[in-house]
Amino acid sequence: MLNITILAIESSCDETSAAVISNGKVLNNIIASQSVHEKYGGVVPELASRAHQKNIVAVVDAALKEANVEPKDLTAIGFTRGPGLMGSLLVGVSFAKAMAMSLDIPMIDVNHMHAHILAHFIQTPEKEKEIPSFPFLCLTVSGGHTQLILVNDFLEFKILGQTKDDAVGEAFDKGAKMLGLPYPGGPLIDKHSALGNAKKFLFPSAQVDGYDFSFSGIKTSLLYLIRDGVKENPDFITQNINDICASYQHRLIKMLMAKLIKASKEYEIKNIAIAGGVAANSGLRQALQKEGEQNNWKVFIPEFQYCTDNAAMIAITAHYKFLKKDFCRLNVVPIAGFSDY
Ligand code: KG4
Ligand code: ZN
Repeated sequence: MLNITILAIESSCDETSAAVISNGKVLNNIIASQSVHEKYGGVVPELASRAHQKNIVAVVDAALKEANVEPKDLTAIGFTRGPGLMGSLLVGVSFAKAMAMSLDIPMIDVNHMHAHILAHFIQTPEKEKEIPSFPFLCLTVSGGHTQLILVNDFLEFKILGQTKDDAVGEAFDKGAKMLGLPYPGGPLIDKHSALGNAKKFLFPSAQVDGYDFSFSGIKTSLLYLIRDGVKENPDFITQNINDICASYQHRLIKMLMAKLIKASKEYEIKNIAIAGGVAANSGLRQALQKEGEQNNWKVFIPEFQYCTDNAAMIAITAHYKFLKKDFCRLNVVPIAGFSDY
């Protein structure tokens, strides 16, 4: 049997990550997170690329050593080509090029969004897990993206809809910032929501055609709610934090679920998956389980370490592209924006 061992690198935003996949089994997933952004309330692109430069050698070295793989054993290098921050992507792409060139092995460019979907197919040597069958719907929700995708095969999918403005994770994080919560605020909104009344404050639902989303309106409503509330009572936020979070989160989840339910009905698909950092949200998970029970859906949620940005998902995508001999040239450049390459 042909041995396929791929080193994968992810550096699209603020996580420097490397993973090794051998014959379809992901051996590890090393992630160095960048805490430098916390005090700025969001990712600072220039600081992110500098941190990637600082971390990448150690992260790749750790992935290879932990997997007990020597560089000479590698069959190919996979890397995130985009979408993402240009400076961050450049670090991963340049590193991948240098390694591929020195080892004289092929390079495989991976679309980060594609990889979030294929995170559902990650298998490890320890356990074989159930994977979605085709076709399935995947809601990819994170700080940088919100897409609803019809997945027909490993390398064949169609974007049914996406956000017209902010990503849903951004709506969580920016909302949290308005409430004085530190970055990234999504998990904190989730925590406060568990203790609050979701019906206390009414947020509007954006009316967007088809399968697209919009989250800028609800963000503005939150801003006005806080502004008016604080005018009357300076302690408005602290006294109502749980209820505000619960009501805000409830509406965000409703907007996501509405499009998912619509697509499930119209495409007659009951295999439903979610991916991306916001897939960690307990309210979204509960809503999916509940809707799933009512509609007989089969619901797939990846392990948390594979929901947020990670190289294991780049590795599994690179593996499937390797099987099709879908390599890229050494003069490949990063693509910061969304694109269907
Ligand atoms: O996939 P990811 O790590 O990075 C991007 O590609 O953006 O997602 C990070 C996003 C952040 O916006 C973070 O606030 C959000 O995922 N997030 C959550 C939760 N955990 C992470 N949002 C809501 N509830 C959570 N429990
Ligand atoms: Zn991502």
